[in-house]
Amino acid sequence: MRETDVNTGLLIGGKRVEGAEGERIAVLNPATGEPITDIAAGTPKDASRAVDAAAAAQRGWAETAPRVRSEILRAAWQTMVDHTEELAGLIVSEHGKPLADAKGEVAYAAEFFRWNAEETVRIAGSLGTSPSGDKRIIVHHPPMGVVVMVTPWNFPAAMITRKLAPALGAGNAVVIKPPRETPLTALRIGELLEDVGLPPGLVNIVATSGSGAWFDAAVDNAHTRMVSFTGSTEVGRVLLRRCADRVLKTVMELGGNAPFIVFNDADLPSAVEGAMVAKMRHSAETCTAANRFYAESGIAPEFTAALAEAMGAVKVGDGFDESVTCGPMINARAIEDIDGLVRGAVAAGADAVIGGAPVEGPGFFYQPTVLAQVDHGSPIAREEIFGPVAPIIPFDDADAMIDQANDTEMGLTGYVYTQDLARGLRVSERIHAGMIGLNRGAVSDPAAPFGGMKQSGLGREGAGEGIYEFCETQYIATNW
Ligand code: SIN
Repeated sequence: MRETDVNTGLLIGGKRVEGAEGERIAVLNPATGEPITDIAAGTPKDASRAVDAAAAAQRGWAETAPRVRSEILRAAWQTMVDHTEELAGLIVSEHGKPLADAKGEVAYAAEFFRWNAEETVRIAGSLGTSPSGDKRIIVHHPPMGVVVMVTPWNFPAAMITRKLAPALGAGNAVVIKPPRETPLTALRIGELLEDVGLPPGLVNIVATSGSGAWFDAAVDNAHTRMVSFTGSTEVGRVLLRRCADRVLKTVMELGGNAPFIVFNDADLPSAVEGAMVAKMRHSAETCTAANRFYAESGIAPEFTAALAEAMGAVKVGDGFDESVTCGPMINARAIEDIDGLVRGAVAAGADAVIGGAPVEGPGFFYQPTVLAQVDHGSPIAREEIFGPVAPIIPFDDADAMIDQANDTEMGLTGYVYTQDLARGLRVSERIHAGMIGLNRGAVSDPAAPFGGMKQSGLGREGAGEGIYEFCETQYIATNW
């Protein structure tokens, strides 16, 4: 356990306050199952108060020069970089991922501020003439207003900054519901933003133990204009229905079920290295994670053996131990879910080449696992595993394999390994996913559009388009 100096109150209108009912919720260290500290929990009334505070602060912020907003975002990048050790320590304490991954997350999270500092001064409009010549058409992009953000526990920093930086840059104010599992990193980012001069009230942070009622109150407040959510497709559907009541704009980053395809001509060492990244980065708890490995028959035995060897070399343990490369899962329920999928696959005939069971506690650990001869129809190939398990499905017919790869409601990420670049591009284009790693095991980059097709989401985060998601479009018809 690491002591934390983070102020654990709610952040509303620039003030640290207790929730209306004085409730506190415990934050656990998943490596031990023990509490680290507790934080204030907000009620629906607190959520609505936070939206009011955001609306009051947003009016002035929208009128500031883009350069002023940009400089604050740039300072936010710098301060996050300067506080890497501290932020990474918080991430390891409450999430459990290895320290090196946590530091990587801080760099990734900070970069959203730097990238969007640069985008903030480049929000473009347009001027045109109507085809009939009767008027000029001016198009510009004002901010949405108040944005409600609901963020997940798997990236306690980056899933906040990927939304927050463009939202602020475009001139919005926000209310964040951080996950109850990992709220400390969010609260510390809130403090760092105050330190770099972000005006009070623009960022409000209200954790809760009652997400449904909290969300209803935030959405029902007339000031709320947009919701940005990262989490499961199951929850995303519920939030979308709720947002429909007020016709709110939404950006949804939802679940994945990424196929990782290895052709016979792939370079084996780089395919295995990419597979380890795609599967295991951030303790295998990413929505971009490779969920199903399709290996062509000619390479499947070697790929399986080499992947099992690499998984066997993974050291599972407390993320503060610098030799550890896979931390705990987030909670006991995650272990049950992962284990249920593994047991189901083995019962249906899959072969556990390595691993296949939870690790004895304390803490919530699962053995790095490789399953061979998995059936495409098995639940483990259809559901998001969110754990260190690699199911391998051999294939002979590439067209049939591509149909299988696309046979899912999800379409977030896919990975293709082949040394034939033309084939790699052809196959990439046929995979119904928003992001493809072609001979690469990682796709995420603040400069690239992150998001999914099908039920993996709506909208994109990052890249040039990310900031426009937080903007309205207004057109002015005029003559002069
Ligand atoms: C996620 O798992 O939600 C995001 C993964 C990433 O940004 O790489």
